[in-house]
Amino acid sequence: MKITIVGAGNVGATTAQRIIDNELANEVVLVDIVEGIPQGKGLDMYEATPITGVDVKVIGTNGYEETANSDIIIITAGVARKPGMSREDLLNTNFGIVKEATLKSIEKSPNAIIIVVTNPLDVMAYTAWRISGFERHRVIGMAGVLDTARFRTFIAMELNVSVEDVYAFVLGGHGDDMVPLVRYTTVAGIPISELLPKEKIEQLVKRTREGGAEIVSYLKTGSAYYAPSAAIVEMVESIVKDKKRILPCSVLLQGEYGLNDVFVGVPVKLGKKGVEEIIELKLTDEEKQALHASASRVKKIIDSLKFD
Ligand code: APR
Repeated sequence: MKITIVGAGNVGATTAQRIIDNELANEVVLVDIVEGIPQGKGLDMYEATPITGVDVKVIGTNGYEETANSDIIIITAGVARKPGMSREDLLNTNFGIVKEATLKSIEKSPNAIIIVVTNPLDVMAYTAWRISGFERHRVIGMAGVLDTARFRTFIAMELNVSVEDVYAFVLGGHGDDMVPLVRYTTVAGIPISELLPKEKIEQLVKRTREGGAEIVSYLKTGSAYYAPSAAIVEMVESIVKDKKRILPCSVLLQGEYGLNDVFVGVPVKLGKKGVEEIIELKLTDEEKQALHASASRVKKIIDSLKFD
């Protein structure tokens, strides 16, 4: 198993570290445009492996030669959000970066599975799919696992229970656009609606939607990376170990949920082939409306981009 991470910034480097610590690959390649950064971080991580006792070769590079024959490519390259910036503000810069990262990666690893992390997430995942020409099951956007984790954390904080017992599901676009399925949100099997009043749940949903911005407002010079990298690694693990976990991911819909040609978060089964199934839940009219509204916002941005 060889995993390439494009973008050796906060998200990319933390993801590499988690993959190495969990020995999810034999080889990890970090690629970045800044000279010295991927080399330095990569070597530093490699030098930790005799202590942590894992056999993972780590390479840092500014080119793509060393990425050849990767099984998974994780694209985190881009500019991160600053206070006051929306994910869409990142659009044009990150569009160019993701196009380049995709083209150069797939040239060396035509059979890889691509996981996209760069924001605006659903649009960048679509970009990687479109530019790569890959089948849709090999291009996956990371968003729902992170949004769900934030929601689960806030619920656990509110009820003073273990995060492990909180189960939640979100659909739709990343962050501000997410569609939480409160009906499917439970604590040890007990529906959340029996444990918290509606207004409280709405407050937690709002905090989850703004979860990325909350971290940006604290950090000021960057955006979240501990929870995002953990979310990426949960997806990677399901693929590497063929666990077939059901996780909310951004994928290309072709008729599912009545949507076409758009990347949006839905529950999928992740295994060694990538997306092995798209799970279609029965939605209420209200949920369906929210999902469609979120998808149409993503589509509008996609339509504004020039792919040729
Ligand atoms: N090729 C390779 N790496 C690039 C390129 C490129 N063309 N352009 C930028 N990079 C690198 C930067 O040099 C930097 O090291 O991408 C890295 C991004 O790292 P950070 O600025 O630390 O950003 P990070 O917090 O990791 O977020 C990356 O993930 O969650 C999203 O919104 C976030 O889009 C952002 C991405």
